[in-house]
Amino acid sequence: MSRFHTASGLVCFSIALLGCSLAGVSCARGGASRALVPDDYSAWRRSTEQELSYTIPGHEASARTIFMNPAGFLFQTDASGTEFPQGTVIIKEIRPLGQVTAAMPAPMLTVMVKAPEDERARGGWLWIVKDTATASEMVFTSDFCYRCHANANEAHPYADLNPMGSFRDFVFFVPGMDTPALPPQADSVPGQGSGIYAEPSGDGY
Ligand code: HEC
Repeated sequence: MSRFHTASGLVCFSIALLGCSLAGVSCARGGASRALVPDDYSAWRRSTEQELSYTIPGHEASARTIFMNPAGFLFQTDASGTEFPQGTVIIKEIRPLGQVTAAMPAPMLTVMVKAPEDERARGGWLWIVKDTATASEMVFTSDFCYRCHANANEAHPYADLNPMGSFRDFVFFVPGMDTPALPPQADSVPGQGSGIYAEPSGDGY
């Protein structure tokens, strides 16, 4: 689990959102022709019905709702793992805990777009943060997002825990595989000392 903690200590979204001058981030105003993130995603199905309000590294303490476009639900799973088709869009709404309700627009979206031929892609995905107030979209061309999401391809403490360490195409919550394999309990993640749904022990994120 140490990689989660290491990655979370390096950067957080609030720092990244301070400006577009950071290395490894390319920015675009969400114009009609250039926007990567569609506005009309609220009718899409959710990739998990789980309540995501526990603290996780990278996405901080927040309430999160994940939507996936219809193309994404055509993902294939076989013995070699899971793969999402080109054109898959996964949008995660992020709301600060306690300040907004689910009915209010989410101030921030983190987004994965499967576009392996795009030169900005990492692991076959574009990694995007959208500020909904300004409609600006930032594509993360560094390995910040990608490096942590590589943990989804191994056993990890989210969703069904990926106990077999199957390739999951960098996606933590694969629809239909989102039921926790174990009931949440304090010692459910060996070596971590806190449960899947527990608050972390205060090591800096
Ligand atoms: C330190 C780890 C970490 C980093 C860094 C990180 N994420 Fe995630 N991300 C997660 C975890 C864990 C989840 C599982 C869902 C949840 O609990 O919010 C997730 C879920 C997501 C999802 C929903 C799809 C899924 O995997 O279930 C999207 C979209 C997403 N992240 C986008 C991003 C983007 C874009 C970045 C970079 C700007 C990023 N993430 C950086 C850990 C990380």
